[in-house]
Amino acid sequence: MWEYSDKVKEHFTNPKNVGSIENADAIGEAGALSCGDKLKLYLKIENNIIANAKFQTFGCGSAVAASSVLTEMLIGKTLDEARKITNKQIADELNGLPPEKMHCSVMGREALENALKNYYQEDWSELEDEQEVGSTIICHCFSVTEQQIIDAILNNGAKTFDDISKITSAGLACGRCRENIKAIIARYIKNDTEKKLTPVQKIIKINSVIETVVSPELQKDFGDIELINVEGNNVYVRLKGHCSQCANAKLTLKNFVETKLKELVDDDIIVFEEK
Ligand code: FES
Repeated sequence: MWEYSDKVKEHFTNPKNVGSIENADAIGEAGALSCGDKLKLYLKIENNIIANAKFQTFGCGSAVAASSVLTEMLIGKTLDEARKITNKQIADELNGLPPEKMHCSVMGREALENALKNYYQEDWSELEDEQEVGSTIICHCFSVTEQQIIDAILNNGAKTFDDISKITSAGLACGRCRENIKAIIARYIKNDTEKKLTPVQKIIKINSVIETVVSPELQKDFGDIELINVEGNNVYVRLKGHCSQCANAKLTLKNFVETKLKELVDDDIIVFEEK
């Protein structure tokens, strides 16, 4: 039997802002009747502020409660503030949802996102481009980003989907993120049973590790790195920024860059510095 907070019960028995808005400025839908839950969200927008929000939903009590509390959260917010609302914030506003019901908050977040896309139309892709690298949400139920999953693998030794779930909670509710999490693990964990990488696959993997693991670390100290060439297991890189003038550049190359590439791509890799 699932435990519901008093706030979930309150919004379920007395939902706020039920209905539609005539001449709404934005409408977003999420879910599908065939899956048992569907939400339609209507927004009235005045001077970049959400003046009114209403919803129609078909679904369980948690779906009604999540939709209801979302409309309350939205009214009075600027579009920029609304864009940053996560499904976890919707669940937190309800004082929590059972893990099995987190997808109801995800449905609220998706309807909001679709309403804003509907409002912004072609400008939406520019807004998405503003997101930081690694900030992509992989598990929507628990708002776990790609970077958090990578950190769990590289810094906490996670090797399997279950390890990632234990460390980040990702995947513990609806499970829709499972395949994406496994794909990230496959990118970072060397699998002994995996077929040997072809030369092209190896270059792609080296480039990916340099861009997503090595470069972000060096940037923290105002340095950076550029991949120049790969010949077999010899990797040629150029250090940039502070790293290029650092007295410890050789140590950085051996102890950090080469170590990471050995760990994540191939034990036989040797890194050389190009000036
Ligand atoms: S998206 Fe639902 S558990 Fe990850």
